[in-house]
Amino acid sequence: MDKRFKRTLVTGALPYANGPVHIGHLAGVYVPADIYVRYLRLRGEDVLYVCGSDEHGVPITIKAKKQGVSPQDIVDKYHKIIRDSFSGLGINFDIYSRTTSEVHEKTASEFFRKLYENGKFITKETEQYYDEESGTFLADRYIVGTCPKCGNPDAYGDQCEKCGSTLSPEELGNPRSSLSGGRLVKKNTTHWYLPLDEYEPWLREWILENHKEWKTNVYGQCKSWLDGGLQPRAVSRDLDWGIPLPVEGTEGKVMYVWFDAPIGYISNTRELLPESWEKWWKSDDTRIVNFIGKDNIVFHCIVFPSMCRAEGGYVLTDNVPANEFLNLEGDKISTSKEWAIWLQDYLKDFPGQEDVLRYVLCANAPETKDNDFTWKDFQARNNNELVAVFGNFVNRAVVLTQKYFGGAVPGNPKPADIDAETLARIPECRRAMESYLETFHFREALKEAMDMARIGNKYISDTEPWKTAKTDMDRTASILYTSLQICADLAVAFEPFLPFSAEKLRNILRVGIDAGRDYRAGEGSPTVNFYKDGEGRALHTGSPESGEDRPVLTWEMLGAPELLSPGHRLGEAVLLFSKIEDSVIEAQTARLDEIRRKHSGTPQKAECTFEEFGKMDIRTATVLEAERVPKTDKLLKLTIDTGFDRRTIVSGIAEQYSPEEMVGKQICILANLKPRVIKGIESRGMILMAKQQDGRMRFVTPHESVSDGAEIS
Ligand code: MF3
Ligand code: ZN
Repeated sequence: MDKRFKRTLVTGALPYANGPVHIGHLAGVYVPADIYVRYLRLRGEDVLYVCGSDEHGVPITIKAKKQGVSPQDIVDKYHKIIRDSFSGLGINFDIYSRTTSEVHEKTASEFFRKLYENGKFITKETEQYYDEESGTFLADRYIVGTCPKCGNPDAYGDQCEKCGSTLSPEELGNPRSSLSGGRLVKKNTTHWYLPLDEYEPWLREWILENHKEWKTNVYGQCKSWLDGGLQPRAVSRDLDWGIPLPVEGTEGKVMYVWFDAPIGYISNTRELLPESWEKWWKSDDTRIVNFIGKDNIVFHCIVFPSMCRAEGGYVLTDNVPANEFLNLEGDKISTSKEWAIWLQDYLKDFPGQEDVLRYVLCANAPETKDNDFTWKDFQARNNNELVAVFGNFVNRAVVLTQKYFGGAVPGNPKPADIDAETLARIPECRRAMESYLETFHFREALKEAMDMARIGNKYISDTEPWKTAKTDMDRTASILYTSLQICADLAVAFEPFLPFSAEKLRNILRVGIDAGRDYRAGEGSPTVNFYKDGEGRALHTGSPESGEDRPVLTWEMLGAPELLSPGHRLGEAVLLFSKIEDSVIEAQTARLDEIRRKHSGTPQKAECTFEEFGKMDIRTATVLEAERVPKTDKLLKLTIDTGFDRRTIVSGIAEQYSPEEMVGKQICILANLKPRVIKGIESRGMILMAKQQDGRMRFVTPHESVSDGAEIS
């Protein structure tokens, strides 16, 4: 690690406590950060991993309102779900707190007040929409109206969910309040702004000159923000959910959620280490690394650093390894469409297989571009890689040792070239892993770890100790000795990626590991997975309470010639991984198919009244003649008998029906549609068609023939 730094503070973006965590969050942020932290701990670095729930912001209040509960109820519920599911996946935060904590309110308020007192904010009075009925200013999200782009009558003031465009409330037609449904008036309100434009020259130098090493997606996004020019950003909101502005005369105003949330990294550190948190935040030899998704880049690279610079006391981030997005079975993950795999569901459906998800999410991590999760790939990676390579190798080595050597590591009486050549490849993988991990290339790092398992698996297949055992016990001993050394390497190398399986493997091999210091219960205290040896070093062994005296592996031993000495007794052989059957995968894809069906099709239109419906005169009619409208592909000119008149209707169905097919068919028409002239032909009415998502159209017809002109109602 860089000599300038004595310690590393790793943060995972604080998830909003308005829904559970899904695989997209995990692949983008929490799994890579956890791998990084576990790796640094193994290297003996002083490292903290800090996270917590982001519990303010408008969406939480909307959800509460919809469910008729308080915002606090919502965040209490999801905070617990999120915290427990993270821990179920072995995401080892030193602290997982929340932005409704007392320490956070205090820390964020001190931060705000300091900026306020030092004149770092500007104030602006602007006109904003005010809902007279509920007596509040409305956040953009609360305002609904007609989308200027697609005509969706229920677009939000910040975004249209139908066409995806970003909007501002001013652009909406017929703006109304989603709280009261009432009309809106414009009213003046004052807010505090951080003048980001003033930080632009400094940001340009700090990012574009001094942080050229940032990932290209991050650097590129920063550059385009900076090139586009920065504007002052409001840091306050008119809202009753959030941290009140700690300033006189600002009743009814709270901090903008993106102002207080990143301060959560500081507060959570402070809550964990009340005595020594400042060392982590105010000392230049601390290195801060923020793991985030790509939608958070501007806040972490531009806004929060500017806030910290204005504050003056806090260390700035050193790196922001943001990831792109993970898709699910080809489609964008969407909470509102339920298109996701929720961590809590996975943990329930796949007990004991936490590492499979960690493995697949890391192997497929959207590090440089958006990536796709599919259940087929999940199954294939488990069955063909974890089971067939890693698990198979370890199992063969251990079972054969039990069979031929009573479960003790044999000596090495008859070494051969292939042994040395094989073992020599391990340090190469290790070096590659280190350089990948230190530059946030977790997929590549995992590939190297898996290569170690591949090397072992190939070695044991090539040397065939089950055959040599029939003729040459000395050679068999050497082969198993060599294989077991590689097993021990795997128990170290996989600790960052697959902590549950690495621990299982260490129990099979009966070894411990030095997994570094753990801060979870305050400075230096031991917890379940860690205990201290005589020298006060924390050991990660998997069964601290057993009190067994196990040899302790360290990262530094990875690739050494002898990790397990002859005579060392192994533990029981258990399978590291198990095959995932087709039926299990089919159950998951069936669930997704169900959701796809439920959310497919166009959403229902806005309500209409019976009177509105009654205005439409819909009748049965029969097609008498049909011909193509010249020089068009789509149009048919139909002569129809309505039972009370004969008329012409021009209809856009020529791509789906030939004129011959139409003649004689009974159809339904909207008879009183205002006549229109299409291609010089007056069209009186419209044929009712059922239109599928894929564009296929079929005309609507009575189930049994009825007389023409029958009214449809
Ligand atoms: N809650 C935000 C999101 O899910 C992330 C907040 S990160 C922090 O997009 F910096 F504000 F903490
Ligand atoms: Zn729209």
